[in-house]
Amino acid sequence: MGVEVVVDGLTKSFGRQVIWEDVSLTLPAGEISVLLGPSGTGKSVFLKTLVGLLRPDRGHIWIDGHDLAGCGEDRLYELRRLFGVLFQDGALFGSMSLYDNIAFPLREHTKKTEAQIRRIVMEKIELVGLVGAEGKLPGEISGGMRKRAGLARALVLDPEIILFDEPDSGLDPVRTAYLNQLIVDLNAEIEATFLIVTHDVNTARTVPDDIGLLFRRELVMFGPREMLLSSDEPVVRQFLNARRHGPIGMSEEKDVSELAAEARLGQDPGALPPIPPQLMPTGNRIRRTQHAPGAWLAANGVVPPQGSFVDERGRNWLEEYPRLIDAHVKGAR
Ligand SMILES: Nc1ncnc2c1ncn2[C@@H]1O[C@H](COP(=O)(O)OP(=O)(O)O)[C@@H](O)[C@H]1O
Ligand SMILES: [Mg+2]
Repeated sequence: MGVEVVVDGLTKSFGRQVIWEDVSLTLPAGEISVLLGPSGTGKSVFLKTLVGLLRPDRGHIWIDGHDLAGCGEDRLYELRRLFGVLFQDGALFGSMSLYDNIAFPLREHTKKTEAQIRRIVMEKIELVGLVGAEGKLPGEISGGMRKRAGLARALVLDPEIILFDEPDSGLDPVRTAYLNQLIVDLNAEIEATFLIVTHDVNTARTVPDDIGLLFRRELVMFGPREMLLSSDEPVVRQFLNARRHGPIGMSEEKDVSELAAEARLGQDPGALPPIPPQLMPTGNRIRRTQHAPGAWLAANGVVPPQGSFVDERGRNWLEEYPRLIDAHVKGAR
């Protein structure tokens, strides 16, 4: 059920341009983590480094006791097979049907027969909700469907770790909501370790167990969702609440005079908005790695803002969640 990924002191530059420095974080096994950050902060570079497509300058990536950042080619090839990656544009072959696109990794990397491949491909097509579309070309379907097809392809080798590069980019809010639900349901189903890169604040606030924020060449913070959503750290606060007031300006960073002007005006960043309930799997399921709502806040003596954990139907998940757990325990007896 998913493996832990420990990133320790990772640094990456291209020539003299440092992309990010000394990044350390742990992706807990089976949990959903989100990496958030403004465009151009090196989120895609981070994912490519994690799978070994790019080599870091310094640091380690520990998986199953092996350092992916420092190992030889043979070991790297083995470690890479633990990963499934959904690239930003889906990265499908335009001249191949969805079926052939999804079958591609199986034909390349396994000795399975076409009958075995068919069974696996159709299973993944069903999992992502694309039944009936397998004969279509990528150009004939919507962006949302292309993302689903890319996801099905990322799943065929049964990865332990799945990396999603902006699964929500280019999708309208309704399609984003469907895709986010699919990601949560998928995590409940296959229990792999997920890392989602996004700059969508709503996705970051509702989907993950853990959130990290990349800004100005460093990982500002990484930890449980409730820790970041209740944080007073100015950058975290500004980014997760999509505020204008704070260190991030239109063109990524505000300059010193802009910040000084804000300080002179003494603008109060205001109260934090309510913490939304986390997106749950459909069908009253509970993910094995799910954190109980409010658990981090209670353990750290932090009082959540008024109205936290109440969903759009008015249900309060601090009360709803224990009931759901109870029902599961009774159901299991
Ligand atoms: N292969 C590469 N060679 C040189 N520079 C690169 C390469 N890939 C990315 N970069 C640079 O790294 C920076 C971060 O890029 P990227 O990871 O794509 O940002 P993000 O995904 O956060 O929007 C950009 O300035 C980009 O130009
Ligand atoms: Mg990117």
